[in-house]
Amino acid sequence: MTDKRPIGFIDSGVGGLTVVKEALKQLPNENILYMGDTARCPYGPRPAEQVIKFTWEMTNHLVEQGIKMLVIACNTATAVVLEEIKETLPIPVIGVILPGTRAAVKKTKNKNVGIIGTLGTVKSGAYETALKEKVPELVVTSLACPKFVSVVESNEYHSSVAKKIVAETLTPLLSKNIDTLVLGCTHYPLLRPIIQNVMGENVTLIDSGAETVGEVSMLLDYFEISNSPKNGREICRFYTTGSAKLFKEIAEDWLPIDHIKVEHIDLGGV
Ligand code: DGL
Repeated sequence: MTDKRPIGFIDSGVGGLTVVKEALKQLPNENILYMGDTARCPYGPRPAEQVIKFTWEMTNHLVEQGIKMLVIACNTATAVVLEEIKETLPIPVIGVILPGTRAAVKKTKNKNVGIIGTLGTVKSGAYETALKEKVPELVVTSLACPKFVSVVESNEYHSSVAKKIVAETLTPLLSKNIDTLVLGCTHYPLLRPIIQNVMGENVTLIDSGAETVGEVSMLLDYFEISNSPKNGREICRFYTTGSAKLFKEIAEDWLPIDHIKVEHIDLGGV
């Protein structure tokens, strides 16, 4: 069986590009549609009801275009609406939280795991609950990093301001004896070298989005819906509710593709 329909990826902004980057590598035959709700980013500080509404709007936009699988490439959305979308849609739907927890359980040696994420993700306790369900004796320290997303969205993730913000925000984690830190927001891998530098080389960083792509690959096999190498990737399309120009700049810096086509679309009110 070969299935040419695209895989859909959604995020509040450019964060899900960190997941797409991994998909381009691990799934070279798959067609990709990406939707980033940049105009309404960040989702992290918003009430859950709003995140649920916005996530459904993005989902419906991609479903109308005939996706065969949906990846909620946003931890904040995964935490509050994954189950509902999964139960409603007739296609496989995957979030980024469980794959990140599986990788953390595998990596930690001293059983001290750190989670960094948005206010919404940390408040939901989704990572902590999932980790403790797997290994009850894990010590989990969660920290919200509300300033990180805007540093990334404004394309300042290489700047000295970024270094200062990351160093100040992560200081409380340095005394926790953490050996594994989950990047529980898909925007954070863009800050990865800075985060690694602050945490030290003995701390293993887990990129929850990248871990997710391995599971997407497994699901494509399981449901027998992969595209064939004979067809290959024909579509890699990006939509944003914000500035197509800024989105394109970040996407071309981050992804190994030139001349990325980005289309602006409106989804609804803020
Ligand atoms: N990239 C998103 C996440 O993984 C959300 C960032 C935000 O909009 O606050 O949580």
